Amino acid sequence: MKLLHIIATPRAARSRTLQISNAFLERLHSKRPESEVRTRDLFAEDLPPVDGQNMDSKYRLMVGRPIDPDHAESWAHIETLIEEFLAADVYLITAPMWNFSIPYALKYYIDAIVQPRYLFGYNEHGVPVGLVHGKRMVCVTSRGGDYSLGSPMHSFDAEESYLRQIFGFVGIVDFHCVNAQPMDQSPTVCAAAIESAKQAACSLADDLAGAYTLA
Ligand SMILES: Cc1cc2nc3c(=O)[nH]c(=O)nc-3n(C[C@H](O)[C@H](O)[C@H](O)COP(=O)(O)O)c2cc1C
Repeated sequence: MKLLHIIATPRAARSRTLQISNAFLERLHSKRPESEVRTRDLFAEDLPPVDGQNMDSKYRLMVGRPIDPDHAESWAHIETLIEEFLAADVYLITAPMWNFSIPYALKYYIDAIVQPRYLFGYNEHGVPVGLVHGKRMVCVTSRGGDYSLGSPMHSFDAEESYLRQIFGFVGIVDFHCVNAQPMDQSPTVCAAAIESAKQAACSLADDLAGAYTLA
């Protein structure tokens, strides 16, 4: 099993979200030591531009035209990211809530990889269809407040809904979310929420370990 871990917090060892994802990875490793984990740490690296030549290429692809050969070198950076994404069987996304949604580095990554002909296409009626099939995604988020079902802030949670929507759009419908909340209240409440999220994440790791046969 090949897992791609996409990290979208700049807080490294101080990140609460990452603590939960690490619990998931440790449990998975204990059950499936043969799993390959690749990490893309979005705040620690430069992503390819999503403008200029690459924007021109995107619009050409959208209407079924080939990429301008002069733009191929620039496009190759986007393709490298896409190939890495498509090579994975399972995705783990580590993303705190930022302004009710995802951190900008994750949005940038999504804008870079969600490309026509690679992650989605169009059917004979011109309706977009996802091209990424048979994959599983686990999104681990943490947030300062509480957006759980029934809480007064629930409708403000544009993070889980967006992640479910954009990755569902490309075909990833085996989608699971673990949300640690509320983080920015008392230390006791925060610690309890992290513990509960770790348990939920480990339970998803157990399920994943059982779902995949040895590679
Ligand atoms: C730029 C920024 C925006 C944030 N926006 C929100 C928000 O809209 N709602 C919320 O509940 N918490 C918000 N927070 C708090 C974080 O979601 C929370 O502290 C989270 O646990 C941080 O995760 P980390 O420790 O993995 O970085 C924000 C934090 C930052 C840095």
